[in-house]
Amino acid sequence: MKLLAADIDNTLTGDRAAYQRLALLLSANRNVTIAYVTGRDKVQTFEIMTAECLSEPQYALCNVGTEIYVGSDYRRDGAWTRYIDHGWDRLEVQEALITIPYLFQQSRQFEFKQSYHLFQKADIVIAEIHKRLEEIGIEHKVLYSSGTDLDVIPKRAGKGEAVDYVRKRLRIRRKNVLAAGDSGNDIGLLSAGFLAVVVGNHKLELSTDNLPDDVYWARERYAGGIIEGIQHFDFL
Ligand code: GLC
Ligand code: MG
Repeated sequence: MKLLAADIDNTLTGDRAAYQRLALLLSANRNVTIAYVTGRDKVQTFEIMTAECLSEPQYALCNVGTEIYVGSDYRRDGAWTRYIDHGWDRLEVQEALITIPYLFQQSRQFEFKQSYHLFQKADIVIAEIHKRLEEIGIEHKVLYSSGTDLDVIPKRAGKGEAVDYVRKRLRIRRKNVLAAGDSGNDIGLLSAGFLAVVVGNHKLELSTDNLPDDVYWARERYAGGIIEGIQHFDFL
């Protein structure tokens, strides 16, 4: 049994013909479980799946690995929710960060994901976020993607952590998991000890400085990069 854990936006999506080739390849291999791992919430995840004709995965890991949905009815995994709810209080996070300049709250917030837009001074702002949350004892993690999106989530959560939880439950070895991504919120997923491929169209925030040496850097873009990664690792 193997697990493909793929980011959606600009990894699975971006080149429909390449995605179709990938879907065909996977449909011929019934021993691969599929998880979509995304910054989107559940509703937005299903919206893009419909719009882009993506096949239904066995797992949908939404809101950057703070929510796990499983099975044909995509029920939320309550044990994961309880596990990540450790030293966390979203309203306290919101209150503590409200006066930080350059940080613009996104229009929708979720219980375990407090999100902003941030377009400049990222280093200074992120340092200030850590400082303020440490002061009030909130165990957290900051994710910064595409030079625009900043998420604050519980320390125990994240794309890599959520996939690791799923693969343990499925009793799949780390090296039988292939992770694929393109942007900052995929760094945890690509660094969790799985086989990992970065697609050719990746954002500049992904570099050899912040990813492990054995990550594969595909030349092909979007889903074509995932196919290249599958071939490189002889994954199927
Ligand atoms: C998705 C989410 C957004 C988040 C971003 C990066 O676009 O909708 O809230 O900030 O991913 O994780
Ligand atoms: Mg992406």
